[in-house]
This record gives sequence, C-alpha cells and structure tokens, in this order.
Amino acid sequence: MERFGFHSSFLALTLGLFFMIYLQYSTSCKDSGLQLFNYSNGPNGPSHWGDLNETWRLCKVGMNQSPINISSLEAINDDSLGRLRTNYSRNQPFLASLGPFNVALNFGPDAGGIMVNSTEYILNQYHTHIPSEHILNGTRFPLEIHLVHRTSDGSRIAVISLPYTYGKRDHIFEQVLDMISSLKEKGGTLGSSLNMTDLKISGKAYYRYSGSLTTPPCTEGVVWTVLKEPRTISPEQLSRYQIAFTENNARFTQELNGRPILYHG
Ligand SMILES: *[C@@H]1O[C@H](CO)[C@@H](O)[C@H](O)[C@H]1NC(C)=O
Ligand SMILES: *[C@@H]1O[C@H](CO)[C@@H](O)[C@H](O)[C@H]1NC(C)=O
Ligand SMILES: *[C@@H]1O[C@H](CO)[C@@H](O)[C@H](O)[C@H]1NC(C)=O
Ligand SMILES: *[C@@H]1O[C@H](CO)[C@@H](O)[C@H](O)[C@H]1NC(C)=O
Ligand SMILES: *[C@@H]1O[C@H](CO)[C@@H](O)[C@H](O)[C@H]1NC(C)=O
Ligand SMILES: *[C@@H]1O[C@H](CO)[C@@H](O)[C@H](O)[C@H]1NC(C)=O
Ligand SMILES: *[C@@H]1O[C@H](CO)[C@@H](O)[C@H](O)[C@H]1NC(C)=O
Repeated sequence: MERFGFHSSFLALTLGLFFMIYLQYSTSCKDSGLQLFNYSNGPNGPSHWGDLNETWRLCKVGMNQSPINISSLEAINDDSLGRLRTNYSRNQPFLASLGPFNVALNFGPDAGGIMVNSTEYILNQYHTHIPSEHILNGTRFPLEIHLVHRTSDGSRIAVISLPYTYGKRDHIFEQVLDMISSLKEKGGTLGSSLNMTDLKISGKAYYRYSGSLTTPPCTEGVVWTVLKEPRTISPEQLSRYQIAFTENNARFTQELNGRPILYHG
C-alpha cells in the first residue's frame, strides 16, 4: 500500500504539472503561429521537421545527423582519442523544460565538464529519450540519457550518450525522479542537488563520432561520445517516469554518409 500511495502521489503531482505546462506550451505556440515538432507519423513528425521552419533545414538536408546505428564491427579503434575525462561536481540544476516529451534539467556554470581533444566543454543539460535514439549492435535500449556540454563561449557542443538497459536501479535517475515529483514551477530551482560525480563514467569505453542535435534545429558539428556499456535502470523506475511522459521521443537513425565511428576501449 505504501508503494501504491507513493506512486499515486507521484502520479498526481507530476501529471498535474505536466498537463499545466503542456497546455501553456501548446496554447502559446498556437497563438503565436509557431510550428511545433513532435514524434508522430504526421506532418509535425521527424520526417518533416526540416520543412516546418526554414531554420530547421538541416534536419532534412544535413549529411552529419544524429542519432545513428553503431556497429562495433565497423568502429575503428583509436587510442589517440584518450581516456574519457570528466570532472563533474555536485550542482543544483534548474528545470529548463518539462514535456510534452521529456524533462530537461540545466546546470549552473560550475557543474564541471569534459575534456575532448584539449577543449573543455562544460556540463549544461541532462535530458532523456525513450526509447534510446542510438542503436548499438542492432539493439535499441529502453532509455538514453544525454548530457549536453558546451564550450564556455557557447559555440561548440559535445554530448555524452548514456544508454540504459533493465537491471538495478540507477542512483542518479532516482534523484531526477524525486526532483520531478517535487517540482514547483517551470524554471524554478529544484530544491536539491545532483552529484554528477556519482555517474563515475571517467575511463569508460566509448564510441566517438561527429553528428548533430537530435531535435530541431538539428545543428551539426556536435561531438558525440556514446558509452559502449549500457548502464542499468529498474523497470519500476522507468514506469514511474513514463507515468509523466507518455510519448516516445526517439528520432529515427540517420545515414552515416561515410563518417567514421571511432572507438576507445
Ligand atoms: C522559425 O524559427 C525561428 C527561430 O527559432 C522563429 O523565430 C520563428 O518564429 C519560427 N517560425 C515558425 C513559422 O515557427
Ligand atoms: C503532432 O502535431 C500535429 C500537428 O500539430 C498534431 O495534429 C498531432 O496531434 C501531434 N501528435 C502528437 C502525438 O502529439
Ligand atoms: C574542471 O576542470 C577545468 C579545467 O580542467 C576547470 O576549469 C574547472 O573548474 C573544473 N571544474 C570542476 C567543477 O572541478
Ligand atoms: C583535435 O584538435 C586539433 C587542433 O585543433 C585538430 O587539428 C584535430 O583535427 C582535432 N582532432 C579531432 C579528432 O577532432
Ligand atoms: C557488439 O558485438 C561485438 C561482437 O559480438 C561485441 O564485441 C561488442 O561488445 C558489442 N557491442 C555492443 C555495444 O553491444
Ligand atoms: C539502423 O538499423 C536498423 C535495424 O537495427 C535499421 O532498421 C535501420 O534502417 C538502420 N538505419 C540506418 C540509417 O542505416
Ligand atoms: C559526490 O560523489 C562522489 C563519488 O561518489 C563522492 O566521493 C563525493 O563525496 C560526493 N560529493 C558530495 C558533495 O556529495
């Protein structure tokens, strides 16, 4: 019963908030004539994103788009990529957006970051995709988390992709679920901090390729780091999440167009 009680209050709080923000979002966009993208098979779905707005053209014509299929057989070992290096810290994120498809948490400037090819990228955002967008060896996972990083001048983007399979609970995702259930208002602080150090991804094996944002405007030149080994999430955690976010938000995989996929073990 206690479990059920917890679930119902989570559901009530989250659904209430979700619908409130969703309604505001869709109404304000309709009023202003703004085009919205979504993940349907219809005219606003992924196959048409590039036609919805002139500034989203890359979604249609870009040759370096994400996500992609990653086959470990095609990946090229490259020791020169170097060990995956992160120096995340404990940081209090704030809500950047909620719904209709996912939750995005933004971090302050002192959240730490990653070094890629001698360039520092600072952790900017944590958001979710259900199911996974990248397909590894033909497997689409139930969840993929994106850690979006930017250089301090904001001009360059690096994303770390964390695929999740079913298994033990994920500690960080649990904290995110707690935050969602205690949200007060869009843009408000979330009342607690996330210790991203706990992710412990430094030194993990990864794939590296050059791609794009997976949502409009599908900006290219994004440095992708996709972890080879999926992390685990419990089915119970994912179902708590899906109570709030009922729609899938995975873009279909894009053509490689000759791009190499590098691997560092
Ligand atoms: C297209 O995107 C631009 C920039 O985000 C925005 O200002 C404009 O209103 C959008 N146009 C439509 C029709 O949605
Ligand atoms: C996607 O957008 C279209 C056009 O606004 C709308 O008719 C449709 O209901 C939306 N689908 C979903 C699943 O949100
Ligand atoms: C991470 O390292 C960079 C430089 O290597 C430094 O500027 C930054 O302050 C560090 N961040 C944290 C949170 O330790
Ligand atoms: C790393 O940076 C150097 C210098 O900016 C550049 O020449 C090289 O192409 C970069 N390597 C990769 C893999 O991006
Ligand atoms: C893909 O398959 C290869 C060969 O069986 C294996 O070595 C590799 O670990 C697999 N990669 C992933 C991401 O599952
Ligand atoms: C990716 O692989 C899936 C099967 O796992 C296939 O259906 C899809 O067409 C592939 N996408 C591309 C762009 O090759
Ligand atoms: C954050 O997590 C790391 C690794 O688990 C731990 O060593 C550190 O004490 C934690 N920091 C805080 C402020 O909780």
